[in-house]
Amino acid sequence: MNLILLGLPGAGKGTQAKKISQEYKLTHIATGDIFRRLIKDRTPLGLRAEKYIKEGRLVPDEDAVRILRDELSKLDIKSRFVLDGFPRTLNQARILTEILEGMDIKPDLVFFIDVDPEELVERISERRVCLKCGSTYHLKHNPPQTDGICDFCGEKLIQRNDDREDTVRKRIQIHLKEIKEIVKYYKEKGLLEVVRGDTIEELYGAIKKAIEVKFS
Ligand code: AP5
Ligand code: MG
Repeated sequence: MNLILLGLPGAGKGTQAKKISQEYKLTHIATGDIFRRLIKDRTPLGLRAEKYIKEGRLVPDEDAVRILRDELSKLDIKSRFVLDGFPRTLNQARILTEILEGMDIKPDLVFFIDVDPEELVERISERRVCLKCGSTYHLKHNPPQTDGICDFCGEKLIQRNDDREDTVRKRIQIHLKEIKEIVKYYKEKGLLEVVRGDTIEELYGAIKKAIEVKFS
């Protein structure tokens, strides 16, 4: 099973991908998490990406594709994945199709997590993340068991530096433009599932239902 999650910033891609990857034993590939690790390690690619991410802009396709190829090449042939944060442009979607065809892999489902953009700014401002294992929390909706500490790996939680309100609004604006084309692309391929949910569990229920229907 290979899945792709699409959605505006704060829609819940990371939260859902974590749950899906644990339940269905899939490799969670999150391009945003990889960029944040590369920035933390001060690698050349991380340093190049940093200025774009801080400003809420997309990293150029070339670098995003480079890290995706790298992650996919690490996969065991039997491994299956859930992609979170890639593709972000129509060009990336087309390149992804080519890369996967070259590996003889087909995506089974592409989920578009549909959330009212108005809700996203509040969600992101209350978010805390773990840079080590990629877990995501919300101070109200999904708090960690111990304040400021990751439930899964014990690392200190941080607030992302692109989660300032003005940067968040810019990220949403940029993504709104791109996502329509990507959604259309996968709809035409017959792979798209639009999912909604007011809570994390409700949304996860909708995703699981679509997976069960597809694989029944
Ligand atoms: P990335 O890290 O992918 O950020 P994003 O797409 O902006 O999405 P977020 O991670 O902010 O949100 P999410 O959908 O994962 O939501 P989450 O689960 O955390 O990318 C960061 C940057 O890297 C980009 O801006 C870009 O510059 C660059 N980049 C990455 N990939 C790239 C690519 N392919 N090409 C070019 N550039 C790229 O949930 C949000 C919050 O809401 C959490 O606090 C969560 O607990 C809470 N929450 C989740 N679901 C619910 C719910 N149903 N109800 C209530 N609260 C909820
Ligand atoms: Mg995320």
